[in-house]
Amino acid sequence: MQKDTPPPIPLLDLRAQHAAIRDEVMAEITRVIDAQTFILGPEVVRLEEQTQQYCSTPYAVGCASGSDALYLALLALGIGHGDEVLTTPYTFFATAGAVTRAGARPVFCDIEPGTFNLDVSRVEAALDAHPAVKAVIPVHLYGAPAAMDELNEIAARRGVAVIEDAAQSIGAEYKGRRCGGLARVACFSFFPTKNLGAYGDGGMLTTSDAGLAHQLRALRVHGSHQRYYHEWVGINSRLDALQAAVLNVKFRHLDSWTAGRQHNASLYRRYFSELDVPVIPPEVAAGTTRHVYNQFVIRCQKRDALRSWLSERGIGTEVYYPLPLHLQECFSGLGYAPGDFPESERAAKESLALPIFPELAEESLLRIVQTIGAFYRQV
Ligand SMILES: Cc1ncc(COP(=O)(O)O)c(C=O)c1O
Repeated sequence: MQKDTPPPIPLLDLRAQHAAIRDEVMAEITRVIDAQTFILGPEVVRLEEQTQQYCSTPYAVGCASGSDALYLALLALGIGHGDEVLTTPYTFFATAGAVTRAGARPVFCDIEPGTFNLDVSRVEAALDAHPAVKAVIPVHLYGAPAAMDELNEIAARRGVAVIEDAAQSIGAEYKGRRCGGLARVACFSFFPTKNLGAYGDGGMLTTSDAGLAHQLRALRVHGSHQRYYHEWVGINSRLDALQAAVLNVKFRHLDSWTAGRQHNASLYRRYFSELDVPVIPPEVAAGTTRHVYNQFVIRCQKRDALRSWLSERGIGTEVYYPLPLHLQECFSGLGYAPGDFPESERAAKESLALPIFPELAEESLLRIVQTIGAFYRQV
């Protein structure tokens, strides 16, 4: 690196976050290790209680990952062979992967270009074409809720269950209500890059259905409430006490971190407009009353060239997601083809996630905007 090269700006800097909470986290980890109780237990119960309170849902059930949360939700709803599940092709793989794991068939429906979320105006036609659909999984992508009122209305009328994929959206609000309490059951991920991230894998389900919560508690331990007696065939998807202990500490900071992300999002919008940078910042849908910005995703022409330009100047970015799920090799048997979901395919070519983490300094953010501006001036 040359002497005057500015320091790199990563997409996400988890070390900065850890440095600020290191003492609190290490004390909790030490406490769990000294107690030698590693699976479920009081830390997990505390995390479940915090999640219930935070999401305003009566029940929360910890599990091993967001992927497992989706799978467990499908199992608990009795969805399996012969059933279809409608979702967006523009999401992380796990959303549809869970459907296949449950033995059902994913069916896709395109997204709205502005928010990247499921285009609910297309859902009714998709349900008409697929009468075997038993559930819909909207994804609250990047930290903003899908259009839940419209979706819940259609689903209730058609007798279809709704499962929120809230993996990226803890704390997000739709018309003043928190994600996690907007459907029959919701799934969260504590993957380290999430706004509330563990030091490894972790997940959570929320619901207001007591029977479903009871079943989910069993399904995460091989379908058993009483050891060695199995009511259902479940899986091993227990949340570690160590991860729960870390998350209990992090929960105390979540709202201030979210405020930092929101502040950075408003700075991006301001600087893009003031410096006349020709990228499209993310649209915030009318129903979104709290966007938690797990990602700040812009749309841009010449995305790949811009990404290389930024990378050469030490600025980290990511593409969420470069290939929509209907075009993934493993789903070729579903019979989809390029052109089936044009908005998802266009988003895959144009979207670019910029650093938005709460510790990002304003001068770094300004440098990112200026560097993008410089790219467009030279092309
Ligand atoms: C939208 C979405 N769904 C599901 C998952 C799966 O969560 P996990 O990585 O915890 O299994 C993730 C995150 O990785 C995600 O972003």
